[in-house]
Formats: sequence, C-alpha cells, structure tokens
Amino acid sequence: MDFVNDVIAWKRDGRELDAARLRAFVDGVVDGSVPSYQASALLMAMVLRGLSDGETVELARAMVESGKMLDLRVVHRPVLDKHSSGGVGDKVTLVLAPLVAACGAVFGKMSGRGLGHTGGTLDKLESIPGFRVQLPQGEFVRQLERIGVAVVSQSERVVPADRILYALRDVTGTVECDGLIAASIMAKKVASGTSALVLDITVGRGAFMSDLDRARDLGRLCRLIGAAYERPTTCIFTSMESPLGRTVGNRLEVEEAWQVLGGEGPEDVREVTLTLAGALLALSDLGVDEAEGRRLAEAALADGRAAEHFERWCFVQGGRWKPGEFHRLAAHEARAGRAGYVTAVDAKAVGQAAQIAGAGRQRIDDTVDPAAGVWLERVVGDGVEAGDLLAAVFARDAARRAAASQVLEGAFTIGEAPPPPGQLVLGRLEAEA
Ligand code: URA
Repeated sequence: MDFVNDVIAWKRDGRELDAARLRAFVDGVVDGSVPSYQASALLMAMVLRGLSDGETVELARAMVESGKMLDLRVVHRPVLDKHSSGGVGDKVTLVLAPLVAACGAVFGKMSGRGLGHTGGTLDKLESIPGFRVQLPQGEFVRQLERIGVAVVSQSERVVPADRILYALRDVTGTVECDGLIAASIMAKKVASGTSALVLDITVGRGAFMSDLDRARDLGRLCRLIGAAYERPTTCIFTSMESPLGRTVGNRLEVEEAWQVLGGEGPEDVREVTLTLAGALLALSDLGVDEAEGRRLAEAALADGRAAEHFERWCFVQGGRWKPGEFHRLAAHEARAGRAGYVTAVDAKAVGQAAQIAGAGRQRIDDTVDPAAGVWLERVVGDGVEAGDLLAAVFARDAARRAAASQVLEGAFTIGEAPPPPGQLVLGRLEAEA
C-alpha cells in the first residue's frame, strides 16, 4: 500500500490527519505524484468526515507553502483586503477599494474570476476598456505606494495547490466542506501578502452558505487561520437572498458602482460597502475605530474623493473610464403575471439568468460578454400591477435572451402582501486587536 493510500484510509476511518500527512498530500498534488483519483478520494473522505480545527489550519499552511508567498512589508503600511464568499450583483469591491484608499489607507487585492452564477471582480474591471489586471509584482507594489489601491489577478505561482484542488472539487461534489473552503480562501489571502482582512460571508439563496450558523463556523475557521499567521480577520455576515443592487453583469455593475461612488445608487450596495469600509479602516494604521472609519468613508463618498480615486485607479491600471459609454445590447423584458407585491427575487436564479445571457462562465476558460446582464426594475417590497416591467435581460443574441428571460421570470415571487423588512447585515465576528 502506498503512502497516499494509507492517508486516504486513515481519513476514511475518521482519524485525524497530522501536518506531515497533509503536507505530503498537498505537495504530491502540486508535483503530480498524487494522481487526481487519489486526491479526489481524499477530498471526499474530508467532506464526509469533516476537518477538525487543527486539520483546517495545517491544510491551509501546507497550501500557503505550496507556492510563492508575497511579502508586502516593502509597502511599510498595512495592506488591507476584503473577500466575499460569493454573491450576485456584488460590486462592493469596485466601490470599497478606491473608497478605502481615498480615506488614506492602503487596499491591495489579488482576485479570482467569476465561476457559475456569481461574478468575479476581475471580469467587472476588464469591462472597462484597457483595464489591465495582470501586473508584475513590482508594479503592484509601486501602485500601492503611489495611489493606495490596486486590484490584480492572482499570480499562477501563489497557492498552486488551490488551483488544482479547487478544479477537482468543482467536478467531484467536494466543494461543500467548511474546512476546505476556509483553507482555500485563507491560504490565498495569506500567500498574497494581505496584512488584515475583512471577510464578507454571504448567506442565503445566492450564496455558498444557506444558513447563518454554517456561515459563522466558516468565519470562525477563517479567523483561526488568520490568527495562525497574525493576519487580523473580521467577518461580516450579509444576506444574499436577493441580488445586491439592481444590476448583475460586468459593465452594468461598474456603472452602478460609479453611482454609489458619487453618493447615489442603491441603498443596499451603499450600506454593505460602508459597513465593510468601517471594519477595514479599523484594521488600518489610521488609528480609528469602526464608527469613525464609517464616518470617514461617508465623507469621502459625499465630497467626491472616492469617485476621484476610482478615476485615478482606472487611469493608472490602463482603464479608459467613461461612465455610460458602452455598447448597449438588445433587451428582453420580464413582466409581472399578476398584481401584488414582490416578496422575493431569487439571487441564484438572477445570477443564472445573467450567466446564460453571457455575463458569467460555466467553465473557467469560457469568455464573458462585458455588456451582458440583468437590470432589475422591481426589487423586494415593490408593488406591481399585472404586466408591469420586472426586469430586463441584455444579451448579444436572441436565443440567449429568450433562455435567460425564462429563468429570470421564475426568479420573481409576487404575493398578496408586502414582505416584512429583511435584514442586510446579519452579524459579525470582530478581529482581535
Ligand atoms: N471560494 C474559494 O476561494 N474557495 C472555496 O473553496 C470556496 C469559495
């Protein structure tokens, strides 16, 4: 029996994996000596048996050390980052990054691409003509020093184990394990040099986590890994029952983010952004608490500094930002079948409609259409008459428009009475100072 076979059987029988076994597994995955069928078997044993706190931290450590670690201490300031566990219409990073920099802190992020029904920040940024997300490390650091904000694509050499394992998990029914998710998220943050992190853990129909208890456990595990590397991590739990804001799709979301940067735009996007900004600024070297951080952020939205910082950021990363200037695609409209109140807009279904329209990927190597997506005319709580416009889907060809609008229509629930007001920020776990 070879060593990996032993490790699989060990976990299958419910025994704890130690650091040496986890490291041998991760190193073997990266150097190719552990074939994918053995890796998949171990991943399944991990999903079925669960990972202890100790296993989760050691797995994250083995993953961090599977590749290159960026040292951002050369910036001489804490480099703050925010990560969302996935959402529909989640354009918060587009607002938060320049906002935090406009308040005088440093925001640096290595980001991934969108997969499935959730969108990725890189795709949104690339919907701005010329915006470069692949920067050499030196340029990334210089940009952080110069303007305090940079968002780039994850280097291939950072946590190579995650790329291989995540691709396997995606096709073997092994994504759903809190320890695996926490190790995957945090290994990438630690290895990309983040000094302090705010995690937006989304809960609800459009999120990985369907209930708050599981989300809290994921947050607890992420903080444990953060603490092992002295990277303070605050978790904010937010609702993802319905999409955030009124747009889903890359360029449509940038346009909406621009409204929020100008002090306008949908209240939910603004509220999540300000909550995260307060939490992030409290982890900076500005010496402010969350309430003061939030006040700084509100002022930077109100007086135009955040919008100015967004423009500077786009310019420095090569983007030619002209609000409202993009090729508009033909739309298909979804209309209400009856009168009443919108009681739910299913985030997952809207995300799937946007994906079918061309805004998202089914496979990691698919290309996305920057102008495709969904506009929500009505949101939860709105009253409607039969025949009223609910939403529109924008796609390049009629077949996509028809398929997407069918899914979109099913996303709306219309009831007799208005729904009770929902909560957007569901809770938090604060980073220890
Ligand atoms: N996001 C990640 O980066 N990893 C996971 O495993 C799940 C979500």
